[in-house]
Amino acid sequence: MRFTVLFTSLAFLLPSVLPSPAPRSFALWAANSAIVRGQGNGLDASGKPLVSYEHGELQWALRLLFERTGNHTFFNYIKQGVDNVVASNGSVGGGYSAVQFQLDPLRVGPSFIYLYEKTREKKYKQAADLFRAQFAIHSRTAQGQFWHKLIYPNEGWLDGVYMGDVFYATYTKAFEPNNQTAWDDITLQFKLMFENTIQKTATPNHTFSGLLYHGYDFAHKQVWADPDRGHSPEIWDRALGWFMMALVDTLELIDSPPRSRKTEALHALLLSMLNTLAPRLAAITSDATPSWWLVITQPGRAGNYFESSGASMYVYALSKAVRLGYVHDRHGEIIHAAKRAYKYITQHFVVDNGDGTMNWEGTVRVGSLDTDGSFEYYTGIPTVVNDLKGLAAFILASIEFEAL
Ligand SMILES: *[C@@H]1O[C@H](CO)[C@@H](O)[C@H](O)[C@H]1NC(C)=O
Ligand SMILES: *[C@@H]1O[C@H](CO)[C@@H](O)[C@H](O)[C@H]1NC(C)=O
Ligand SMILES: *[C@@H]1O[C@H](CO)[C@@H](O)[C@H](O)[C@H]1NC(C)=O
Ligand SMILES: *[C@@H]1O[C@H](CO)[C@@H](O)[C@H](O)[C@H]1NC(C)=O
Repeated sequence: MRFTVLFTSLAFLLPSVLPSPAPRSFALWAANSAIVRGQGNGLDASGKPLVSYEHGELQWALRLLFERTGNHTFFNYIKQGVDNVVASNGSVGGGYSAVQFQLDPLRVGPSFIYLYEKTREKKYKQAADLFRAQFAIHSRTAQGQFWHKLIYPNEGWLDGVYMGDVFYATYTKAFEPNNQTAWDDITLQFKLMFENTIQKTATPNHTFSGLLYHGYDFAHKQVWADPDRGHSPEIWDRALGWFMMALVDTLELIDSPPRSRKTEALHALLLSMLNTLAPRLAAITSDATPSWWLVITQPGRAGNYFESSGASMYVYALSKAVRLGYVHDRHGEIIHAAKRAYKYITQHFVVDNGDGTMNWEGTVRVGSLDTDGSFEYYTGIPTVVNDLKGLAAFILASIEFEAL
């Protein structure tokens, strides 16, 4: 037993010397690689404090790893990252500004609450309160959806649900569990996003999958806004990935004890969305198409490719949804799709650097609706090695896969 442990850890440290051993844990390998490179530590490339949703995403993955392994390196890394942006008086630096009405930075908020619960240091609660206060002034559409940003008036993007509403729910669960108004507001955010972006029919050159378009413009002013509900023209894999992760993470959060009866409507809504989307995501994969296209609406078109961040997010969300019993995987298709895709992404996007770290490939740098939202736009953006949005998602996918 001791010998096996020693052997595996050597294999882990010296992968180039030994004949391509399977790593002990892709989750630990990927997390360790991110930490060694100093990724997601609350600082930008020049060492200045930065509030970044990517860091928030990594912190969530490290928190799950800390809970799984008890290794304090993960906890300390989260704390160090947050301490780089939260001052001792609880103010938030790192470029955060409430009046820009951006949902993205709020993704770091769950880490504030986590650290407050673990340390009881007041500054983390003050920082969380500061983020929470943004919702009171944040601009909304006439239906009540938070704008994605002040500079994108009347636009709802799927990304924003993961960035803003998961924090909204985490805060409400922790500090206002009986605030029905807040739970209803969170429910409304999910509902409007879903109803305004779900694909209802096939359109010329766009395959029907019944999944969610990237976003919508309630004012119908953007060049990309469809006359119907103002939705954007394409289903972009990562936007839907954020939304899928928001579904499973929010369900897990509100299910965790003490469960409040005030969350019943939200619970039912999230379950129904998950049971609509998860089988559809599984159904568009096959042995010939083991992973997901960057632009889901145009499978196989020249220039399209299997993108690695969206796939990782789906593996995480689908596996977690089945593990926690949120979706009915009657014939096992959902888990089968997740396993097949996980195999594909580990084989195609993980590169062994031979120094104990791995690189992560195939993650598209960005996808924005500050464009024409076309196929040419999405496919024209390059992929980036070790992009944290994808690497953190791969840690999450691996945590779930390893829990299966
Ligand atoms: C804890 O995690 C860090 C970062 O991945 C790693 O370097 C260290 O070896 C781990 N410690 C133990 C005891 O496993
Ligand atoms: C809190 O601390 C920050 C950073 O040290 C400082 O810029 C800010 O003025 C302080 N705010 C208050 C209200 O004291
Ligand atoms: C409950 O949530 C609503 C909506 O976010 C907010 O306006 C209100 O201040 C909250 N009430 C309490 C008592 O915290
Ligand atoms: C559909 O795709 C073909 C080939 O790429 C293109 O020539 C045609 O204009 C497209 N039609 C629409 C409605 O986008």
